[in-house]
Amino acid sequence: MGYKITAKTDLSPIDYFVEVEAPHVARAWKPGQFVVFITHERGERVPMSVYKAEDGKIGMFIRKLGKTSMQLYYEFNVGDELYSMVGPLGKPIDVKYYGNVVFASDAVCGQAENYATLKAMKEAGNYTISIQSFEDAARVYPEEFLAKPVADEYYLTTDDGSVGIKGNYLDVVKELIEKDKVDIIFAGGKLGTLAKLAELTRPYGIPTITTVRQIMVDGTGMCGSCRILYGGEVRFACRDGPMFDAHKVDWEDVLKRANRFLEQEKLARERYLEELRARGVI
Ligand SMILES: Cc1cc2nc3c(=O)[nH]c(=O)nc-3n(C[C@H](O)[C@H](O)[C@H](O)COP(=O)(O)OP(=O)(O)OC[C@H]3O[C@@H](n4cnc5c(N)ncnc54)[C@H](O)[C@@H]3O)c2cc1C
Ligand code: FES
Repeated sequence: MGYKITAKTDLSPIDYFVEVEAPHVARAWKPGQFVVFITHERGERVPMSVYKAEDGKIGMFIRKLGKTSMQLYYEFNVGDELYSMVGPLGKPIDVKYYGNVVFASDAVCGQAENYATLKAMKEAGNYTISIQSFEDAARVYPEEFLAKPVADEYYLTTDDGSVGIKGNYLDVVKELIEKDKVDIIFAGGKLGTLAKLAELTRPYGIPTITTVRQIMVDGTGMCGSCRILYGGEVRFACRDGPMFDAHKVDWEDVLKRANRFLEQEKLARERYLEELRARGVI
């Protein structure tokens, strides 16, 4: 038996929302953990952050990046089934009272984690501050998919200032630090920005917990694909993370390893787009 798709909708021209029935995963999932799905019998394993795990369903935000994410978008519809959904994987974050908890995000996975983390932190009695960054107005998600409902204080930024504050979440974090409003910060999204965030908060000693996305294969600590250098020691993002103390992460190594299959991925994407064009799907 597969895993039925119960909802699918566009979030922006490049991102979409998909919800899949997986009661055993939804029951056990905690913020910070991720899932791995496979679309069809011969498909690849795709690690994904979770936006919502409610009513036996897993909601995810997905970017149309390469072959598998586009295949799910163009060839699977509500009522169709995914071949596999495994999880929850990775370590949950420590949900407890910290005071002022910030979550900052500037890419699809981080936008999902922003909502999921702050929902739990708000329920734990924290004052929650959400910062969501997008490239421009066209890429901002519909209101109902933003983290506003779980934020006591909410900031939206765009790179070009077409809506919200002009700039990136780093600009807002700087201001919040100056106002002494950050007791702990969580963040997810583009790795380059996370590396900059680590440098921004380091001098202030502000606890900074960020997702460290790496290429994953098995997702259970067996293959070594997702290894990172953490405080001078090897850790596996899938087993020991994916959220880590950003001040201990070797970001230079993380950035280098994350891009190691770019050529092969580009080729697979181009071939798949050609196939879609030939079949008249796009
Ligand atoms: C813990 C974790 C959480 C993630 N959460 C999200 C999310 O919420 N939304 C989302 O859109 N994407 C998320 N990703 C990335 C997602 O797994 C990839 O975008 C997806 O595998 C792309 O596959 P593709 O075939 O469409 O593209 P490909 O062309 O195969 O890859 C495009 C890019 O996706 C990344 N990627 C590809 N394969 C993997 C892999 N096996 N493991 C990790 N990264 C990979 C690489 O950066 C790559 O350059 C997450 C990854 C990890 C590790
Ligand atoms: S994905 Fe294989 S060890 Fe993490």
